[in-house]
Amino acid sequence: MEQKRKVDRSIRRNYRRYVFYQVWVRSFRDGNGDGIGDLYGLYDKLGYIKSLGVDAVWLSPVYPSPDADYGYDISDYRDIHPDFGTLEQFRKVLDRVHELGMKLIMDLVVNHTSDDHRWFKESRKGKDNPYSDYYIWRDKPNNWDSLFEGKAWTYDEQRGQYYLHIFQKKQPDLNMDNPRVREEVKDIMRFWLDMGVDGFREDVINFISKKEKLPNGLPFIPAVNGMFAYKDGPHIHEYLSEFRKVCDDYDCIQIGEGPMTTVKSALSYLTGKNKSLDMMFSFDHMMADCLFTEYMQRPFSLKKLKRAFSKWQYALNGKAWNTLYLENHDHPRVISRYGSEKLRRESGTMLAACYIFQQGAPFIYQGQEIGMTNIRLRDINDYKDISSKNNFNRYHLKDSLERRMERIHNSSRDSSRTPMQWSSARYAGFSKVKPWFVVNSNYSEGVNVADEEKDPDSILNFYRRCIRLKKSSKVLTYGSYREFFPDSNEIYMYERVYRGHHWLVICSFSKHIVKVSLPKEFENRPNELLLCNYNGERKDNMCFEPYETRVYRFL
Ligand code: GLC
Ligand code: CA
Repeated sequence: MEQKRKVDRSIRRNYRRYVFYQVWVRSFRDGNGDGIGDLYGLYDKLGYIKSLGVDAVWLSPVYPSPDADYGYDISDYRDIHPDFGTLEQFRKVLDRVHELGMKLIMDLVVNHTSDDHRWFKESRKGKDNPYSDYYIWRDKPNNWDSLFEGKAWTYDEQRGQYYLHIFQKKQPDLNMDNPRVREEVKDIMRFWLDMGVDGFREDVINFISKKEKLPNGLPFIPAVNGMFAYKDGPHIHEYLSEFRKVCDDYDCIQIGEGPMTTVKSALSYLTGKNKSLDMMFSFDHMMADCLFTEYMQRPFSLKKLKRAFSKWQYALNGKAWNTLYLENHDHPRVISRYGSEKLRRESGTMLAACYIFQQGAPFIYQGQEIGMTNIRLRDINDYKDISSKNNFNRYHLKDSLERRMERIHNSSRDSSRTPMQWSSARYAGFSKVKPWFVVNSNYSEGVNVADEEKDPDSILNFYRRCIRLKKSSKVLTYGSYREFFPDSNEIYMYERVYRGHHWLVICSFSKHIVKVSLPKEFENRPNELLLCNYNGERKDNMCFEPYETRVYRFL
């Protein structure tokens, strides 16, 4: 039994003012010299995270896992992956995080387990064992497709039935309708909360209650049959309210990942009598150049991006709190998508300002703050992520190999999973030995922490400035949001308003110089320029350089 440890539980009160930092441990920092990132390396770098101005760390799964989905297939919820360290080392990390005045959020992945989990091994033995109903077994599958590979059902010889897996076949879905499964989840939550963690990021949480009788999905998009059938199921609020009670006992927070979530369904989790989550990760703004990341690609559209941002900003204002993010372990690097690798510094800094100053809690994904970019491996076999490999095989086979690889280069989740670039030393200072995965070669061209620390104008130092500005300002924290010129293909402009104070955030997404005009109400009003990613005097004050961003306070 874990000893219940006393911790400061102010997170529920304060998370609206927080900046979060996501760590995907395997690629963060190798502390023990085996080429794999771990909790020893993380411990050593907590001071760095703190130095950014971060308040809370979200740790992607660190539990034992066969890594079919790099930790999102958990085989033991109460231990630490041997690659990453031990429970003892985890406690050290947690204590150090708290000593530094930060919080720690764990990843709770309970839509599915690994097929290596003891529950599944028992469950597949037959219909009359205590774990028989922990998973979703059927004699006949429906037409659902899995999000990662082929059909969502796999036949199990031992049990003589099919089991459901929304993700790959090594990730069987738990049967949340079974009250014993829900008790298990709550016990797992208590285990980590008793140890002192401050909350959870909850993986694909809107998928955990499945539609009764599992009806066929409408076959309207190939390869995603059923995709809309398994979100926001009939008992979702009931189940989440049970989990909420556990969190209430500890005053911790819950942030739900909501693939395909709409504003309306998000509000049903975040407000009202069913309120069960503090914040949610939505995906609309991650589809300004694609449909479901790897599924389909399109040219980047600034209008689409702005529409998505504004939709959530307006809808949640005064009701719920947004998460703000541009990267995580599931998406390629944002500079390569919405910015420009050639104008890396310019676009990387502009992108930082464009989202951090919206209303909500900003999340920064490791490496984003130094402007890491996508990798382009020549051979699909050099990629690690099962989802990329399967998409490669699914893409129109009549397309040329080059075309299919280009799609992988643009969309693979692996681009966010290369080792963190700490310095220009061998292997980017991530490890002393050859790392588990390729290092992006641009670490030797200045894309690394050590070099960016030295440069006051680096992306890294600009992130620090943005965070400092956001945290020092009630306007940027609590103010309401209003967008201007939504039809512009070059400029994203919004104001934040708080108690009569008006601040304006202007971001150019253009590779060229553009002349910006202010909305009528701001013309000729005295202002103060608080932040800009370009230095020096400008001939024409309202000409914006490529990817220039400015924040003005109007007096
Ligand atoms: C979430 C995770 C992703 C994982 C999937 C299945 O979307 O963020 O990495 O592959 O769930 O667990
Ligand atoms: Ca290691």
